[in-house]
Amino acid sequence: MVACAIGQKTYSSEPIQQQPKELVPNVPAQELKHQIDNCGSHSGRDVDKFKGTGLAPQPARHVDAPIMGECVAHMECRVEQATDTGDKVLFIATVADACADEDVAQGRRTAEYAAGDFPGKVYGT
Ligand SMILES: Cc1cc2nc3c(=O)[nH]c(=O)nc-3n(C[C@H](O)[C@H](O)[C@H](O)COP(=O)(O)O)c2cc1C
Repeated sequence: MVACAIGQKTYSSEPIQQQPKELVPNVPAQELKHQIDNCGSHSGRDVDKFKGTGLAPQPARHVDAPIMGECVAHMECRVEQATDTGDKVLFIATVADACADEDVAQGRRTAEYAAGDFPGKVYGT
């Protein structure tokens, strides 16, 4: 299972709470840094992030929510529980399917995206 804490006011939290309650964590590699920076700095309420980044949603195998094909790993999840923690909703979900780039799965390539200064830029840590 996975747990994701998503801001109550985010656009992303809305579809996750509609039926079917699903979410797909996508793991980006370092080369998507700028696209992810863009996605994490704007709301989908205001901009079309797919247009803005060139990233394209693709069908998942086991859930209706799309995967982001450019990412190196994906977890197709069904939400079991959503807990209001104040400013965030904590989603606890079962992983229906998971897949990863062969090189990442074999340890030949790292999916260590959150290296460097990037989290600090977002969260001020
Ligand atoms: C690398 C990265 C990780 C993030 N992780 C989270 C997270 O776990 N939960 C969250 O609520 N926001 C997270 N954010 C911030 C949201 O992406 C940001 O608030 C975004 O503008 C929300 O867009 P939306 O309104 O389209 O959902 C993250 C941002 C970045 C760049």
